[in-house]
Amino acid sequence: MPKVENRGQPLVYLETYGCQMNIADSELIGGILRRAGYGDAARPEDADVILINTCAIREHAEERVLGRLTDLARLKRRRPGLRLGLLGCMAQHNRAHLTQRAPYLDLVAGPDSYRRLPEFLGRGGFDPIVDVRLDRNETYAGLASAHEPGPRAYVTVMRGCDRFCTFCVVPYVRGRERSVAPEAVLEQCRELAGRGVKEVVLLGQTVNAYRAGEVDFGRLLRMIAQIDGIERIRFTSPHPCDMSDAVIEAMATEPKVQPYLHLPVQSGSDRMLAAMERGYSVAEYLDLVNRLRRAVPQLALSTDIIVGFHGEEPDDFAATLGLMREVGFDAAFTFKYSVREHTRAFKLGDTVSEEEKARRLSALIELQESIAAARNQAEIGRIREVLVEGPARRGAGMLSGKTPQFKTAAFPARANPGDLIAVRIVAATSHSLTAVPA
Ligand code: 5AD
Ligand code: SF4
Repeated sequence: MPKVENRGQPLVYLETYGCQMNIADSELIGGILRRAGYGDAARPEDADVILINTCAIREHAEERVLGRLTDLARLKRRRPGLRLGLLGCMAQHNRAHLTQRAPYLDLVAGPDSYRRLPEFLGRGGFDPIVDVRLDRNETYAGLASAHEPGPRAYVTVMRGCDRFCTFCVVPYVRGRERSVAPEAVLEQCRELAGRGVKEVVLLGQTVNAYRAGEVDFGRLLRMIAQIDGIERIRFTSPHPCDMSDAVIEAMATEPKVQPYLHLPVQSGSDRMLAAMERGYSVAEYLDLVNRLRRAVPQLALSTDIIVGFHGEEPDDFAATLGLMREVGFDAAFTFKYSVREHTRAFKLGDTVSEEEKARRLSALIELQESIAAARNQAEIGRIREVLVEGPARRGAGMLSGKTPQFKTAAFPARANPGDLIAVRIVAATSHSLTAVPA
């Protein structure tokens, strides 16, 4: 094992699972710990403290983390001074069982406990510290994050969710909806712009439900667009019911707001949407898509779909395939329904077998691949502006960046990360584009 020089500064290794919100939370945690005097460890073997920021959205996500914990616990056996902590949604979700299932944990802390991490880690003792209180007011406003370098940065503008879709554990693990004060959001964006960030991605579980006093989400978009140096604004994930005229108007008229929307639909069956309590019908969703496309003609759309929710019959699933064809999403994230404790659908259980869920998922993916391929083929010949991120994974000398539609393009060019350059699309697959300087 290579020797690490440790000048008395304890080193933390932080591993992140789950959504962008968790990545942003890990950056926040990184900032909090850095200010408390902790350094970064590149590998778990080098660390004095190992923290895992976890996801509880599906059982599979939790199983992965439990497997990983067993590996990491081995390091603890070799180095008894090492401290191991589990943070985030899974900590909140499994608070009752975790210290029994994973007795080697020193710390279990939910999403509203991060301010107190330095205090928890500073305490001695053998008993694990468990802090899973949710706090209606915690927004972490004004706390600087340790952002990953690069031209794009996440900015959390609201936390929690009040929608309680029947399948979803998020409102239980992340608590009630609360928005970050606009001044704090603007301050963070200005600071990022000062450090060379060109694109901000505003985050929230239902990000377009943002409201702080008189400032709604449409207004917030316009305020951020005034900041010099911020060239692009994106946000995720909006809820269809909160897609107000003000937000559509801001997308249509504010050039910095990019023409891409991740708009989770979950199902193409009215019966399922009602059982999920999503708050809209298929017709209403389609009407929203039409209004969006009229207002933002270059719009790209992606979505989330769950297959095999409680009571989903072949007809319901066929309706989902129909909706996919009708909308023509640029991308779709597809999931097998996973029964989650604490949710309202928990007691209903599973009615669709694992094999049938897998079959439905494959059919959905196959259809989406062909739709995405066609949508990307239609990009060929177009000129798009890309934000250069760095070297492309494939091909020496190729760079990679995102088009306004959030499609990944690879292109041969001399440019630096953060440059905005025009390219012409020359080839496409279902997942990516190839381009040349225009
Ligand atoms: N089972 C499967 N997928 C789920 N999602 C949320 N809860 C569940 C669940 N219990 C999916 C939804 C959501 C995405 C982030 O995860 O599609 O939009
Ligand atoms: Fe979960 Fe529904 Fe809230 Fe999204 S809107 S986080 S699916 S409860």
